[in-house]
Amino acid sequence: MNAADSIVLRFEKVSLDFGTGEKALDDVSLDIRPGQTAVVLGAAGSGKTVLLKVALGLLQPTQGCVYLFGQEISRMSEQQLFDIRASVGILFQEGGLFDSQTVEENVAYPLLNQKARRDAGDVDAKVREALRFVELEQTLEKFPSALSGGMRRRVGIARAVVTAPKLLLYDSPTAGLDPITANTIMALIIKERDTRNTATVMATHRHQDGQLMANFRYNPESGRLQRISANGHGADSEQTVFVVMKEGRIAFEGTESELEASTDSYVSKFAPKR
Ligand SMILES: Nc1ncnc2c1ncn2[C@@H]1O[C@H](COP(=O)(O)OP(=O)(O)OP(=O)(O)O)[C@@H](O)[C@H]1O
Ligand SMILES: [Mg+2]
Repeated sequence: MNAADSIVLRFEKVSLDFGTGEKALDDVSLDIRPGQTAVVLGAAGSGKTVLLKVALGLLQPTQGCVYLFGQEISRMSEQQLFDIRASVGILFQEGGLFDSQTVEENVAYPLLNQKARRDAGDVDAKVREALRFVELEQTLEKFPSALSGGMRRRVGIARAVVTAPKLLLYDSPTAGLDPITANTIMALIIKERDTRNTATVMATHRHQDGQLMANFRYNPESGRLQRISANGHGADSEQTVFVVMKEGRIAFEGTESELEASTDSYVSKFAPKR
């Protein structure tokens, strides 16, 4: 086993254009290691969603290679992708819940789509556990339209985590939510990461989301988030890498303090304000 095998997600000089003449991704290289968090920031249209979809093989790069768990996915067949996707959970920016299916059916969907289908009893227990994780066990029979925006986002998280993936991708998980609900969602994302040591890539518009990811961890005893260290730059915060996208390129990659210290006029717009 070489070092590259332990890298959860690797982008190697990845470019993608939709035939519009502009590159949605332009020469992107990025490594995500086990237990690491990447916070992806950037203006609207800078390529955050495209990056996540390429990571999952939903979009094919025009150039470059993408590796998941050491296997190149950029040229895999749908069938090969099917298996490897079972190890990756995603919360789509648009939510992506099926309106005609109940909460239970929505959350069961990734399990039923795995090649090695599990027996129904097992699916049931996993769906309940995932919904318990987001504290929505009581909504099993409901349809998404009967839930609030924040609740729908939590169902989306339950669906993303139900397969106990090794990599989680969250696309703008707090967009459109009030600050209190947004913090509830972030607490769930951090709880997931810290309970299972899941590698996490999160695109977001909110500075606060990145700050929370870098400086807080889930305390299983109190069931709450706690600050990692007084100055916020403890050893653990190195586990969180900040990426700023600009017109499909990585304009910045580094720690939170490096982001704060950036003098680039575009990059510094995404630095946390203290
Ligand atoms: N299916 C598509 N066909 C053509 N162009 C696309 C498609 N999907 C995305 N793009 C283009 O790719 C670029 C990156 O889009 P992307 O959705 O990744 O932006 P984003 O950073 O996620 O923006 P937002 O903050 O609004 O979510 C944009 O210029 C967008 O118009
Ligand atoms: Mg997007």
